[in-house]
Amino acid sequence: MKILNLKHGHRTVKLEQSNEKSYTMKYKNIEDSQLSMTQLMLPSNSNFRGFIHGGYVLSLMDQVAFACASKHSGYYCVTASVNKVDFLNPIEVGDLLTLKASINYTGRTSMVVGVRIESENIKSGIIKHCNSSYFTMVAKDNEGKNVPIPGLILDSEESIRRFTRSISRQMHNKQRSESFTSAEFKMEDHIHKIENMNAKIELD
Ligand SMILES: CC(C)(COP(=O)(O)OP(=O)(O)OC[C@H]1O[C@@H](n2cnc3c(N)ncnc32)[C@H](O)[C@@H]1OP(=O)(O)O)[C@@H](O)C(=O)NCCC(=O)NCCS
Repeated sequence: MKILNLKHGHRTVKLEQSNEKSYTMKYKNIEDSQLSMTQLMLPSNSNFRGFIHGGYVLSLMDQVAFACASKHSGYYCVTASVNKVDFLNPIEVGDLLTLKASINYTGRTSMVVGVRIESENIKSGIIKHCNSSYFTMVAKDNEGKNVPIPGLILDSEESIRRFTRSISRQMHNKQRSESFTSAEFKMEDHIHKIENMNAKIELD
């Protein structure tokens, strides 16, 4: 397999020769698909207490994750899963919300996009971290088939930390979901966890 190193601005892009004439991009830099979106929080998206609806923020997060993954892969993507969304601080009407998206992990057809949100109070200038979440996006071709994507060039300890954290999360999620399928679940192994919880067991 022939690899061609092309200078693209100050970066080197690795292209793989797929046939005699054409080269496809085998690996891409994280910076090439990173993006940021800033929006003013309007009253139309608020609840009765003057805070912004969580569902509206989720929709903005999905948009930036979609744009980032589509930019990296060169295909339109779908959201396969989201892991996980904790709203750390309320977002107020009049805040400037900035969403930053970056590819953390690349599989064969899927990518994990890290989305970080900060809100800025325009008058005080106070910036709050509202949320960090991880969206798994899958690239699709025009027929809706999953398509292979370029890998990621990991050029810093931080990028390696994010990539390996995604691998650990995937393994952890797999183990967790396997032990709680109805076929695998053994009630006697778990029932003690309900003691002192706000629930009452009433089995027949
Ligand atoms: C998610 C989806 C793409 C999975 O495709 P599939 O052909 O059923 O499954 P595959 O097992 O081949 O998985 C394809 C990739 O997605 C990943 N994947 C699938 N389900 C996943 C999940 N729940 N969480 C994370 N990753 C997932 C797989 O690990 C695989 O990654 P890889 O190619 O990098 O190794 C497919 O079910 C789908 O299109 N779902 C609908 C998505 C959608 O419409 N989203 C918007 C909802 S409003």
